[in-house]
Amino acid sequence: MPYRDPAFLAVLRCPRCQATGAFEGARALTCGGCGLEVAVGKGGFIDLLDVTSVGEPPAATAEQRFMESELVARLYERFWRPTFVRLLAGKGAGGGIGGVAGEVFVHRHSLGLDERKGPWLDLSCGPGLFTRALAAAAPGAVVIGLDISRAMLEVAARRAAGYANVALIRADAHALPFGDGALGGVNNAGALHAYDDPEQVFREIHRVLRPGGVYVGSTFAEAPTLLGRWTARAAGIRRFDPPELRAWLSRIGFHEFEELRLGGAFVFRARRP
Ligand SMILES: C[S@@+](CC[C@H](N)C(=O)[O-])C[C@H]1O[C@@H](n2cnc3c(N)ncnc32)[C@H](O)[C@@H]1O
Repeated sequence: MPYRDPAFLAVLRCPRCQATGAFEGARALTCGGCGLEVAVGKGGFIDLLDVTSVGEPPAATAEQRFMESELVARLYERFWRPTFVRLLAGKGAGGGIGGVAGEVFVHRHSLGLDERKGPWLDLSCGPGLFTRALAAAAPGAVVIGLDISRAMLEVAARRAAGYANVALIRADAHALPFGDGALGGVNNAGALHAYDDPEQVFREIHRVLRPGGVYVGSTFAEAPTLLGRWTARAAGIRRFDPPELRAWLSRIGFHEFEELRLGGAFVFRARRP
């Protein structure tokens, strides 16, 4: 994994002193700005939450407590994700034509990996389904998978072991550990409903994208079935309305919003001017 690759170190921001591109070192990464040491390779990822004074954020929702479970992390891609996507979004997303491969295809092509250069961020990567797909499609660029769940990152690290260009970071989406304008694109599949403060996450994504950089996400709109609507309500899953999201992102400074409906879910793309 490319933890000492200059292309990776150049974009990393120290969670303590906020210096960008200041980490260096062999066994551990040390920040040249404040001396903060970050162990490399613990569990296969860099833990930037462990080392900050902010401490461990409590899992806010029941869903997030599941995301911290080793069992759910292991079963997530095969069983958990398809079941919930089917329930909340119907046949159109993930389970529809092309299955999850179709969903990955839409994200990969919306990011435009061929036309732009990375580094690419797979934000809230879970066990790394999209991280691996992006890494395979952009072998010359660093692909960073970031999540708040240790369990998810441990599984992601095992599954991405064969990808030399994947770096995994534990951090909070509300305070991204990257410099301003550092990234070519951010992928953000199925996680908006999990954030305490989506506005803050959108602002962070906007900050870390370089001008022209692209933000591709997917989330749930209204569930198409009664059972789906009931499940969403019972699990406290927030739904987003595409026009509302378009207005929200444009207020933050994104433009060129586009969306593709997939049943009760949608994929969207917006750009930093
Ligand atoms: C429903 S999963 C989606 C995983 C993956 N993107 C996919 O589509 O397969 C949501 C992920 O968001 C992560 N997450 C929740 N809150 C987060 C936060 N504040 N910062 C970073 N990741 C977060 C969870 O740990 C979980 O892995």
